Amino acid sequence: MSHIGQHKKRSFYICPIFLYFIMAKTIVVIGGQWGDEGKGKLVDFLAKQADVIARATGGNNAGHTVVVEDQKFKFHLLPSGTIHKGKLNICGNGMVIYPKQIIKEINTLEEKGFTLTDKELAVSSSSHVITEEQIQKDLATGKKVGTTGRGIGPCYMAKIERTGLRMSEFIKEDNEEANRLAPFVKDTYTLINQALEDKKNILIEGAQGTMLDIDHGTYPYVTSSNPTAGGQCSGLGIGPTKIDDVIAIIKAYTTRVGRGPFTTELGTDEQTTEEGTWDKIEPNFEEQLKQAAEKGNGGDEYHQGKYLRLMGREYGTTTGRPRRTGWFDGVVARYARRINGLTTFALTKLDCFQDLDKIKLCTHYEIDGEKTKDFPTDLEELKKAKPIYEEMDGWKSDISEAKTFEDLHENCQKYVKRIEELTGVPMCIVSVGPKRSQTIILKKEHLF
Ligand code: GDP
Ligand code: IMO
Ligand code: MG
Repeated sequence: MSHIGQHKKRSFYICPIFLYFIMAKTIVVIGGQWGDEGKGKLVDFLAKQADVIARATGGNNAGHTVVVEDQKFKFHLLPSGTIHKGKLNICGNGMVIYPKQIIKEINTLEEKGFTLTDKELAVSSSSHVITEEQIQKDLATGKKVGTTGRGIGPCYMAKIERTGLRMSEFIKEDNEEANRLAPFVKDTYTLINQALEDKKNILIEGAQGTMLDIDHGTYPYVTSSNPTAGGQCSGLGIGPTKIDDVIAIIKAYTTRVGRGPFTTELGTDEQTTEEGTWDKIEPNFEEQLKQAAEKGNGGDEYHQGKYLRLMGREYGTTTGRPRRTGWFDGVVARYARRINGLTTFALTKLDCFQDLDKIKLCTHYEIDGEKTKDFPTDLEELKKAKPIYEEMDGWKSDISEAKTFEDLHENCQKYVKRIEELTGVPMCIVSVGPKRSQTIILKKEHLF
């Protein structure tokens, strides 16, 4: 008996070094909707515990905002981990890079005291370079989709056509830009795989969102890459077996920039465009917010949408365009769960409903009189889809100072739980503001 007891005791001893090794993780953070969900904020929040932060897809169509105390950082190409000293930041092979923009971001960081060494930034030699001609082509042809005009589509076209310019070739040119970038250009697949072998914590920062995916999004109103979970592996040269958690960031409502179907939209694309950019709104922001809340509570859908746009400061980081807004779409969220094999959601912008009496959640679509919970991939079917809503009571209070889930108003807690129920995906984080401190952790097991 005593022998068995001793044996048991020994099997419970876990060496701390062993514990460290088994705890290393690779986490993918992607957008669960149409982009701008708050990936930058969450990646910065998680980056503290990461050794490597890597971007795999897209280019400077992305705009990721990070707020640290009074400072605002806007990243388009660099990973949002670059403001943490001593980490390795990777721009992966799946990215398309505009040299002038990445140099601008490196220089801006340097001016702010965050100088990046070649140990802290590595740009894949297999990434593709966006040329001036490609930007001009995008500006001339991208209006139908409402592209960002950054040359993304034409650059990926050249890549697929096998006529593209890779970073390894670009840096052989003898010019100022090539010379500035050359020290950072490397075989990044070796760096990230070495980090995996060394049991480092790796954080992958998605760009865009699931519904903008070239295969799974609302084609042709999409971007030209695969921002979904699968694209992160091919965009970095790591295998899917190396991913431990896939977190989709979702807003507590929905936004979309550019053209294309949007089932839960409040108001129309034209009404939103007519409002204009942030600089036009800012001078009488308070007045407009008050009016949007009043009219919204009176049942006017366009003003409900305008209220969310104003509260969430929904103006593009990249183009300044006002974002189209709508209620939370459970059909899209369930679709994102399947396409990405999500393990968890992080919910942002929960603080943006505080004056609304009622909040709606879309649970199903109705297409030709039939109720469905599955997202239709055919654009014509999707255009016919009508949202089926569930209405919940608002919480009519400021939750931006909440530190725990219990601090949130009861109706707000119900809203979060309802999203979990509707999607079958557990929530690991709830965000109640743009700052690091406005982040509530619910399920630590999905994080580092
Ligand atoms: P990304 O493209 O997914 O990184 O998102 P963006 O940075 O383009 O847009 C998200 C915006 O919302 C940024 O301005 C963030 O600072 C801000 N933000 C992020 N999380 C929250 C939140 O929980 N509440 C509020 N009010 N703002 C947030
Ligand atoms: P982040 O990473 C929101 C949209 C554009 C347009 C479509 C195609 O900040 O979430 P493109 O220039 O990629 O060819 O444009 O995709 N789009 C985004 N919308 N957030 C983004 O990135 C986006 N990147 C592209 O508005 O509708
Ligand atoms: Mg953005």
